[in-house]
Amino acid sequence: MNDQVADFRADRTNLTALAGLDTAPVSLEPYRSQDWFDAEVRQVFKRAWLCLGREERIAAPGDYFVQTLEFARAEVLATRTKDGRVRAFHNVCSHRSNKVVLEREGNASRFMCRYHNWTYRNDGELVGVPDQKNFFDFDRKSCGLTPVACDIWEGWIFINLQREPEVPLAEFLGAFGEIYRGIPYPNADRSILFESRLKANWKVIADAFAETYHIPAIHPETIGATFASNENPFARPISAQTWGPHRSVSTYGNPEYAPPPGSQVERLFYSNIATGNVLSAASLDDTEVFRRHPAINPTKSASWAVDVTWLFPNFQIDVSPGGFWTHHFWPVSQDETRWEARFYIPDAPDVWSRLQQEHYIARLGEILLEDVGNTERTQEGIASGAKDTMPLQDGEVMIRHSLHNLHKWIAAGTVAEALA
Ligand code: FES
Ligand SMILES: [Fe+2]
Repeated sequence: MNDQVADFRADRTNLTALAGLDTAPVSLEPYRSQDWFDAEVRQVFKRAWLCLGREERIAAPGDYFVQTLEFARAEVLATRTKDGRVRAFHNVCSHRSNKVVLEREGNASRFMCRYHNWTYRNDGELVGVPDQKNFFDFDRKSCGLTPVACDIWEGWIFINLQREPEVPLAEFLGAFGEIYRGIPYPNADRSILFESRLKANWKVIADAFAETYHIPAIHPETIGATFASNENPFARPISAQTWGPHRSVSTYGNPEYAPPPGSQVERLFYSNIATGNVLSAASLDDTEVFRRHPAINPTKSASWAVDVTWLFPNFQIDVSPGGFWTHHFWPVSQDETRWEARFYIPDAPDVWSRLQQEHYIARLGEILLEDVGNTERTQEGIASGAKDTMPLQDGEVMIRHSLHNLHKWIAAGTVAEALA
């Protein structure tokens, strides 16, 4: 593990060098090359463990959801069986390969393909074939749904598209999996989803959520004054850590922040907790246990806003004093991405809380639009070929670390080699 604390008042912070990364400008080819995209799909997305989200999403036996993975031209059906296990299957019928499940989510103990009514139990077993006698030497046992390797870590569902994953999930997560064990994620069973398809490479979208350097420029009216202050005008991070291909940056929050006098609505719903205007919790008591965990706000700084934690290759868990949210950056093609952000919020116990949540959600929508509003323009600029490289500053260390590891996985013959 590389563990670095930054003195954001210094002439320059020192996170990149401490993470063992070089400081040269980085190539833009990974953001626009079809060959690179193909290599990324083959060597990274089809070999890494990929997080699909919280298992609370399929809490009861029979609950299921379908995740489309455009890069693999595949759909994965995740479901909880009667014995409580989470299983994943390709959403492909064993007869003539139609899609078995057409809904995005629901609850069913059996799935019936609409084409010829073949029926599967949700543990994948084929249990019904109309006019079975008219097939030849039919072996029902071998015609179940095709399983996808699936494992759970700390309530997060992961899949692996290798038929036999080269390394187990625990090995893929490495030290990260140990350090982030036992975090009681608040309201993990309740989320709202923001989803969009953007005409930009998945890394352009992911990079937009990987640094705070952009905050004073892109978010001046929303969260600018919470992530930056006179003390830290450029929103430099507090610390950064890396564990193999995984990484986390702890970001600065202005402890003095209060909504300006003119912001009547924000003042009405301001929960008066540190860096309060981006948060869902009504009070710090709601998240105290969560915040005490050593991996969260690792320096235990009083000037803390968010930990941006990025699981290789395409998943982020962001935690703040008020709760947590996640981002998925799903590649569609070299220049298109499906981005899914989920925010976890509690049931509102009273009218004020409900209004506070509505304000929070509306505010989030605004901030997210600010974040992704320039990504398609960025992609156009990259695609133009005007530039071959981009310089990255020290606060953009997560982007550099991501690219470094993508290069490593693409060059590596085996996953063990990529993780070494
Ligand atoms: S393709 Fe599914 S039943 Fe025929
Ligand atoms: Fe942002």
